[in-house]
Amino acid sequence: MSEPEVRTSEDTPEEKGINGSHILVVYFSRTGEQYTVGAIDKGNTAIVAEMIAEQTGADLFEVIPADDHYPMTYDALTDVAKREQNEKARPAYVGSLPDLSQYDTVFIGAPVWWGDWPMILYTVFENNDFSGKKLIPFSTHEGSGLAGFDRKLASACPDSEVLDGLAVRGNDAQNRQEQVRDSVNGWLAELGY
Ligand SMILES: Cc1cc2nc3c(=O)[nH]c(=O)nc-3n(C[C@H](O)[C@H](O)[C@H](O)COP(=O)(O)O)c2cc1C
Repeated sequence: MSEPEVRTSEDTPEEKGINGSHILVVYFSRTGEQYTVGAIDKGNTAIVAEMIAEQTGADLFEVIPADDHYPMTYDALTDVAKREQNEKARPAYVGSLPDLSQYDTVFIGAPVWWGDWPMILYTVFENNDFSGKKLIPFSTHEGSGLAGFDRKLASACPDSEVLDGLAVRGNDAQNRQEQVRDSVNGWLAELGY
């Protein structure tokens, strides 16, 4: 099992948060066989998360399942994900988020699974106090767009301010990275980051 890794902007001191804020990017993403893109070494959402961090100088936290029972083949993974959704599971993740008092903005991204956040994200929402923070959702998907990530995040974290999210096609994240980088940077600029 891999240890969670918090990569800080101190590693890249030239990339401080542009508007002086402290920004964290939290994401969940799978490698292995993914819909329309075949077997991938880096998950679609991971690619977008890293683009956000590069542009804003944010710190990155990857949500890694504590018990990584997720199959590496697409069909088997959809079955497990559906079961977790039906059971309202709260899968555990490795380690803990960095001290949230350092951050005023948290980008939170994941693949759309069955029209919703993967259940492990609900574990993150419930185990952490995001009150008073700006939360900015992003998804990768193959047709569902943001799939209500913003509304569901606001409902899970009612004392936070949820800003406009971004939805990226997973296939584009793998295969059209310059185009995706442009839309990520345009979205960040609109948000003021
Ligand atoms: C279990 C599972 C369920 C999925 N459900 C949806 C869905 O409801 N809507 C959609 O547009 N894409 C769905 N997809 C496609 C993923 O959202 C898409 O491939 C995503 O980019 C994967 O991101 P990742 O590589 O970061 O894990 C699903 C994929 C999996 C594995």
